Amino acid sequence: MTAETNRQFLLAKRPVGAATRDTFSFQQVPVAKPGAGQIVVRNQYLSLDPAMRGWMNEGKSYIPPVGLGEVMRALGVGQVIASEHPGFAVGDYVNGALGVQDYFVGEPRGFYKVDPKLAPLPVYLSALGMTGMTAYFALLEVGAPKAGDTVVISGAAGAVGSIAGQIAKLKGCRVVGIAGGKQKCELLIEELGFDGAIDYKSEDVIAGLKRECPKGVDVFFDNVGGDILDAVLSRLNFKARVVICGAISQYNNKEAVKGPANYLSLLVNRARMEGFVVMDYADRYAAAGQEMAGWLAKGQLKSKEHIVEGLETFPETLMKLFSGENFGKLILKV
Ligand SMILES: NC(=O)c1ccc[n+]([C@@H]2O[C@H](COP(=O)([O-])OP(=O)(O)OC[C@H]3O[C@@H](n4cnc5c(N)ncnc54)[C@H](OP(=O)(O)O)[C@@H]3O)[C@@H](O)[C@H]2O)c1
Repeated sequence: MTAETNRQFLLAKRPVGAATRDTFSFQQVPVAKPGAGQIVVRNQYLSLDPAMRGWMNEGKSYIPPVGLGEVMRALGVGQVIASEHPGFAVGDYVNGALGVQDYFVGEPRGFYKVDPKLAPLPVYLSALGMTGMTAYFALLEVGAPKAGDTVVISGAAGAVGSIAGQIAKLKGCRVVGIAGGKQKCELLIEELGFDGAIDYKSEDVIAGLKRECPKGVDVFFDNVGGDILDAVLSRLNFKARVVICGAISQYNNKEAVKGPANYLSLLVNRARMEGFVVMDYADRYAAAGQEMAGWLAKGQLKSKEHIVEGLETFPETLMKLFSGENFGKLILKV
């Protein structure tokens, strides 16, 4: 690749089931010159998110889908190398929707500056990025944990789950993670300070909940949906809160999404289940970021990144989210 070439992954078709390499087309084009109000960013790290699978679908969601033939949407961090925008100068580092490509050229809508002297760039996609904001607001605003509560987190060794669990510990809760495999369960307890772990791939989740949550579940932070949601619903306490942050077990379904059969547990326990979208809290990101940065600086919070190198590996690397190969935040180094 020369400095003037931009490698890009475009959405070629809308996948049925899991996305594959064929879902995307690959092209190399010259890097365009910025027009008035535009900037050029050399992309350095791209955030790989389960939500990207949803953005490939036609139809209404919380943001519009990626159009066929458009560069696949991805958040990322990179450095400004040309600018025709008064708010951004050459050399600035920015966080924004850069797309799965080497260079972003366009208007920096919603972009903000980050400082690599304060934190390594990948952390701005993890604890100090959308991932961290999701964990923070979904747990504290929707889950509303109180000291002494039992908080259960699914997808616990992933990007959002690993941070949400640590924040719940900081708030004085008993924290139990559900994750796939022995190694992930060990990570939760030994590295991230969780009180208990349930390996849903090798044990019955309800039996695990009885063992790890003898006093029942006050807050369930759900990233996974499906059978795991159903199992935890059966162990809720009076006035429990269930945070619907995500449902990754359902994103590649060819059939309809599987809803919870045990929802009457909400009625019996006067409990509440509430959906969450991080963008609703955008006006509070700066304050939350400061608090998170403080926890990171004091060593009270660990930001765990799983970095894979090479833009060209994008389709296969994205799929690691669905096969559970990532430990912490999955990031593509361009
Ligand atoms: N609502 C919002 O605003 C918002 C914002 C960001 C993210 N989210 C959601 O939060 C969730 C976590 O996102 P993330 O970025 O932190 O991803 P992640 O947890 O880092 O990665 C996905 C993990 O999900 C687990 N998984 C995949 N397929 C599964 C299945 N069929 N059953 C059970 N577990 C499965 C895997 O872990 P195991 O090895 O443990 O199976 C995998 O490592 C996603 O549902 C995402 O859509 C929501």
